[in-house]
Amino acid sequence: MSLDIGSSAIKLVELKSRKGGEFDLLRLGIEPLSPEAIVDGSIMDSSLVVDAIHKLNDETRVKSTNFGTSLSGHSVIIKKIQLPAMGAEELADSIQWEAEQYIPFDINDVRLDYVVLEEGEPGRDNMEVLLVAVKRDKVNDYVSVISQAGKTPALVDVDAFALQNAYEINYDLDPFKTVALINMGAGVTNINILARGTTVFWRDISFGGNQFTEALQREFNLSFEQAEGLKRGEAADRYSPSDARPILDAISSDMAEEIRKTFDFFSATSTEGSVDQLMLCGGCSLTPNLQQILTERFEVEVELMDPLRRIRYREGDFSAEWLQAVGPMLGVAVGMAVRSVGD
Ligand SMILES: Nc1ncnc2c1ncn2[C@@H]1O[C@H](COP(=O)(O)OP(=O)(O)OP(=O)(O)O)[C@@H](O)[C@H]1O
Ligand SMILES: [Mg+2]
Repeated sequence: MSLDIGSSAIKLVELKSRKGGEFDLLRLGIEPLSPEAIVDGSIMDSSLVVDAIHKLNDETRVKSTNFGTSLSGHSVIIKKIQLPAMGAEELADSIQWEAEQYIPFDINDVRLDYVVLEEGEPGRDNMEVLLVAVKRDKVNDYVSVISQAGKTPALVDVDAFALQNAYEINYDLDPFKTVALINMGAGVTNINILARGTTVFWRDISFGGNQFTEALQREFNLSFEQAEGLKRGEAADRYSPSDARPILDAISSDMAEEIRKTFDFFSATSTEGSVDQLMLCGGCSLTPNLQQILTERFEVEVELMDPLRRIRYREGDFSAEWLQAVGPMLGVAVGMAVRSVGD
């Protein structure tokens, strides 16, 4: 059971695994959040978030009490580090101390997690370890809204990696292709670059759908709700979607520029070569013309990723039309739900 507490909407997904690595969709719900509830990744009004979780509970009639959730943005630090090879116990004892030099926060303020990526012969080789540090107060805020909604917080994931899970269960990995998974949310865009079938670079950038909405608000003097509607193709005040188009295109170019900076940094710091394909998801990826602007800018294949591509469901349970509409928003929730089935 997973709960993706996004700043514009909370998504609940429950999957059931079947033989052969396939999954069935058991439950799915999306509950919009008002923009005051979560600002810049911090929960500002926890009662709004708790209410939304309660609503999702009631709507989906979920029975499970263990809820996984996920974090992103500035409060999450993920680093690949090299250490002298050592056994599991020794690593567990020394990781805190080793991590200190890689984490820009006080080590006592973070929750530390790690995964050994490559083992080595103790005394001879180095080992590669993936270090994940999340600010403790941030974890506590997210975990606390789940408890307040009467559920047990189970696992805390990181958006960029949940995204990778969602991709891996729905697409065949091509070891010869470098693919950038890009989840464009409301406040944050998560980028995870995969090469040789594994993650080689990741970054969260503070740019997303809110930038588009705010630009329309400024230009046409609209409320947040009006601008959101206009962005999705509804008229607002006396403005039509075609009036909005040049504004949206300008912000799409800014978004492309942000992504380019990230790719440049990736190229400069890695030996993997350049990105061959962009896989987009997140609500903001539905912005009109954005996909075309990215295609022109990067001159590579740009595809919309479908987090439900290989997930089966009973026809009477969900409408295909609805699944198609909400699918792009479900990358993180599906990826986490996969993890919580496996754990
Ligand atoms: N059809 C659409 N066209 C343009 N933008 C859209 C469309 N549908 C949704 N969006 C935008 O997508 C964003 C929401 O996407 P998503 O649910 O992936 O974000 P989130 O998870 O709530 O945010 P974050 O992860 O940044 O906290 C909003 O900014 C919304 O305006
Ligand atoms: Mg999100």
